[in-house]
This record gives sequence, structure tokens and C-alpha cells, in this order.
Amino acid sequence: NPLTIAIVVGSLRRESINRRFAEALTRLPGAKGIGFTWPAIGDLPLYNQDDDADQPAATKRLKAEIRAADGVIFVTPEYNRSIPGVLKNALDHASRPYGDSAWAKKPAAVIGTTQSPAGTALAQQHLRNVIAYLDMPTLNAPEVYIQMTDALITPEGTIGPKSAEFLDSWMQAFVAWVERHRS
Ligand code: FNR
Repeated sequence: NPLTIAIVVGSLRRESINRRFAEALTRLPGAKGIGFTWPAIGDLPLYNQDDDADQPAATKRLKAEIRAADGVIFVTPEYNRSIPGVLKNALDHASRPYGDSAWAKKPAAVIGTTQSPAGTALAQQHLRNVIAYLDMPTLNAPEVYIQMTDALITPEGTIGPKSAEFLDSWMQAFVAWVERHRS
């Protein structure tokens, strides 16, 4: 059966460039036949360990959506040289209670975009550190540091010609990575 890949977008912004970028990635040739899901993180309360024994409904829903996926793509903005708090909040929620993390063993990929030429590189490195601890086998290469320009996404919502081939090679590498880890 076809692969299911969850895309976790680290921005809640209506006009998020990372969400638009994520949507364009799913239209790459290498994404054909994949079932993408879009777990929401904006309805999670601030994580509070007091609630571990009786997790909020939104946390249970997020964990079920992650568990139903064969792999996870994190599409993250960079906030102050790290990941947005909303994304860390979601990572913390679905990692608990101890021993019942939804992230464990899920193959992952990290990507993101920004208007700056640094291409979310520092946010991605912070995220890699967190998801390594969460025992997510993460695609190392190719790395993708993408500056958002007018040409990156076409009016039709696909990846523009300058980046399409490279990003498709990334998508193909991740699909193969997920296949390899499928149990
Ligand atoms: C930013 N931005 C930003 N950009 C960057 O490349 N490196 C950074 O460290 C930061 N820091 C930062 C902090 C905060 C609090 C905000 C709100 C923004 C700019 C950021 O890349 C830009 O707002 C993007 O549009 C955010 O992505 P979304 O929400 O459009 O997907």
C-alpha cells in the first residue's frame, strides 16, 4: 500500500511561506502516490507535565496522526536562530508520557525556508538535535537550505524550475529512506 507521510509545519501564520513551500513539495514528481497528512499543532495548549497521565484531546489526536504515518517531514521556519516555540511545544507533547512517544523510530526529514540567504540552517540544526534524542532516524543528505524568492513557487503552487530538480532529488531520497525503515 502507498506510503503515508505526515507534514508538520512549524508556523501557524495564515500566509506562512513554509506552509506554501510544504504544499509545493507535495506536488513534486517524486511525491506522486504518497498520501500526505497535515497534523495541526496550533490547537495544542502549552505543554504541562502535570497532564501526562491525562493528555489533552489535541495531544492524543496529534499522536494518533503521527503514529498513522510511515514518516514525518518537518517544514520549519527559523525563529531567532532556532525552531519556533510552537514546534517545540508539539514535539514535547507527542513525546510524552515517558515511554509513549509517538515520534520514536519514525523516519524524518528536516527542511524549511526563509527570506534570508541563511536558509533556516540554524533552526534545522537545532531540530536535528531534538529529533535525534527522540530516536527519529533522520535523512542526512541532501541538506536543503532554501531562500524564499519570487521564483521558488510558481503561481500554480508548484516548485519553480530553478529548484525543482534538486528538491525532487531530496523528495526521492526521503521516500526511499521511509521505504527502507518501513516495518
Ligand atoms: C523571524 N525570522 C527569522 N528568519 C531567519 O532566517 N532567521 C531567524 O533567526 C529569524 N528570526 C525570527 C524570529 C521571529 C520571532 C520571527 C517572527 C521571524 C523571519 C522569518 O523567516 C519569517 O517571518 C518567515 O516568514 C517565517 O516563516 P513563515 O511563518 O512565513 O512560514
